Order: sequence, then structure tokens, then C-alpha cells
Amino acid sequence: MNDPARKTYLITGGSGFIGSHLTDSLLARGDSVIILDNLSTGRLANIAHVTDHPRLQFVQGSVLDELIVDELVHRCDVVVHLAAAVGVKLIVEHPLRSLTTNIRGSEIVIEAAHRYRRKILITSTSEIYGKNASGPLSETAERILGSPAVVRWAYSTAKAVDEILANAYHKERHLPTVIVRLFNTVGPRQSPAYGMVIPRLIRQALGGSPLTVFGDGTQTRCFAHVADVVQALLILLDREDAVGQTFNVGSSNEISILELAKMIIDLTGTTSGIEHIPYAEAYVAGFEDMARRVPDTSKLHALTGWTPRRSLLDILEQTIAEARDEATVSLG
Ligand SMILES: NC(=O)c1ccc[n+]([C@@H]2O[C@H](COP(=O)([O-])OP(=O)(O)OC[C@H]3O[C@@H](n4cnc5c(N)ncnc54)[C@H](O)[C@@H]3O)[C@@H](O)[C@H]2O)c1
Repeated sequence: MNDPARKTYLITGGSGFIGSHLTDSLLARGDSVIILDNLSTGRLANIAHVTDHPRLQFVQGSVLDELIVDELVHRCDVVVHLAAAVGVKLIVEHPLRSLTTNIRGSEIVIEAAHRYRRKILITSTSEIYGKNASGPLSETAERILGSPAVVRWAYSTAKAVDEILANAYHKERHLPTVIVRLFNTVGPRQSPAYGMVIPRLIRQALGGSPLTVFGDGTQTRCFAHVADVVQALLILLDREDAVGQTFNVGSSNEISILELAKMIIDLTGTTSGIEHIPYAEAYVAGFEDMARRVPDTSKLHALTGWTPRRSLLDILEQTIAEARDEATVSLG
């Protein structure tokens, strides 16, 4: 018999990196999941182990398709909006497509959630804070952006528009919204193809090519394990007092990209060295990067007690093991 406490979640972008892990957790706790994904950066392989699950439905399609979105939102209880053009490389190479997906796509999903009065969780990003490198960033920290002519800020701006839209629907139309600003999230199933640093450095190390570090490598980042991030999403989805609020989600353990590359060299035992590449060569001339990006997650912790439990070492060991398995399969 169906448990009335269990719900149906529509996950846009559910066959992507974070979405597939969220799907696993929701199915494991007894909920039902509908995935809407156009498989642009997502992979069927990410959900291959659950495609026959009786409580999962996969729909290949775009959040830009208003009819599909309308139908699927109607059929669910809660919407988790993850679908987006993600990754600096993708955004820099396809700015127009990224903007359309990230602004118009979100608008369509939010409008449908409002039409059927469904709770919606919107995934925003630490890119919101732009170049603000002033130490741990709280949710009220300033946004410091460069010129709109610099393509990197398109992603930040698009996600800000999503947040503003969600907030407006919440305040003016009482739509139950939760906004999460994800900082660097990493772990198994993250694709190396779109400029994500850990999967890229690991593949370089295992392939015996130099680990490419952009700039001098002193820029720092904090990496959270996807399982910890999914845990935060689940807690926030379940709490009524999270509605109408915005939360940072991420790890506060800071590491420079150069140190990260050295750690990967040690853990993989590769003979590869490190090669520094100027930003203009890695991306485009005028590319701007942040020197530092550290979240202040005290708001989330105070409300829910959430704190990340997995270390960078856990993340790297699991991701290296996965990349080794993939390499074995493709050779076999
Ligand atoms: N991974 C991170 O570090 C990080 C950091 C900040 C924010 N986020 C946000 O989290 C969300 C999920 O990111 P991810 O890391 O899992 O990336 P991902 O690329 O693995 O997931 C995005 C998914 O959206 C799908 N998608 C893209 N355009 C679509 C469209 N028009 N219609 C339907 N599906 C579409 C892709 O195929 C993919 O499965 C994104 O909104 C992203 O902005 C991620």
C-alpha cells in the first residue's frame, strides 16, 4: 500500500551529477521520483542502476518545453529545480544557450510550480557572489561582478534572476520556495567534460598527462561531497521553516588549486607533473577568476544542525577509484 507520508518529487536535471544522487536518496527513503532531463550534460549511466525502479520515471525533455513541464509539475508534489547549463567551460563556450536555459527554463518551471501550488527548491550558486573574496560569505554578502561583457558573469546573473523570480513569487503569490546556493560540490559521477577541476585533474593524473593548473594556482576553493550536499537538500525540503529562505550549502575547508593538484598526484601515484596555464589560454581573453570562495553556512547549521561529514580525502579517494574503474571498463 502507498504510504501517504511519501511524496512524488519532480527533479529537473535529475540525471546529472547532483540530481542522480538526490534521486537515489529519495528512492531509498520511499519517495517517488520523476526526472526531466534533456541529457545535455546529464548521463543515463548516472541513473542506470535505478531505471527499472517502480517509483522512478525518466522523461527525456527540456525545461524549455512548457507543455511537458506543466504536465510533470501537475503530477508531482514537490519540484527540485536542478536543470541548468553548468560549468565555466560550457558557459564560456555557449553563453546564449546557457542564458536561455538558466533564465527562461527556470521561469517556466517556477511558473508551473505556482500554477499548481507546488513547493519548489531552486538551486543557485556561489557564483552569485562574483569576485567577492572577503572570507566566509554569508547569504547577505555583497555581489561583486565584473563587466557584463565578460561572459563568466552571465551564469551568475542568470542564477540571480532565478533567485529574484523565486523570491517575488514567494512574497507576492505565496509560492513555497527554498533557495540553496551551492558551493563547489564534487564526488562520484561528476563529469570531467565541462571544466570541473577535480574530475579533470584526476583524469589527467591517471592518463599520465600534466595536471593543468590555471594561473599560479594560489586561488582557493572549498569542496563538499555530493552526499553531504544532498543531505542538506533533503533536510531543507522537509522543513516548513526553510520556506521563503536562502541558504548557502558547502564545505568551509579551503585548499589552493595548486595544493589540490599535489594531493591528487600523491594519491594517484602518477609520474605526471603540474603545468601552469594562463587563464586567457584556458578560457578566453579577459577571463576573471575569484581568488577565494568560502561559504559561511552558519544559517543552515543554526536551523537544521547540518554540517558536512566527509573530508576532501574521502572525496578524492572515491573519485579516483571511480575514474580508475571507468578506465578499466573502457580498456576492457
Ligand atoms: N556541482 C556544483 O559544484 C554546483 C555548484 C553550484 C550550483 N550548482 C547547481 O546545481 C545544479 C545541478 O548541477 P550539477 O553539478 O549536477 O550539473 P549537471 O550538469 O550534472 O546537471 C545539470 C543537469 O541539467 C540537465 N539539463 C541542462 N539543460 C536542461 C534543459 N534545458 N532541460 C532539462 N534538463 C537540462 C543536464 O542534462 C544535467 O543532467 C545546477 O542548477 C547548478 O547550477 C552546482
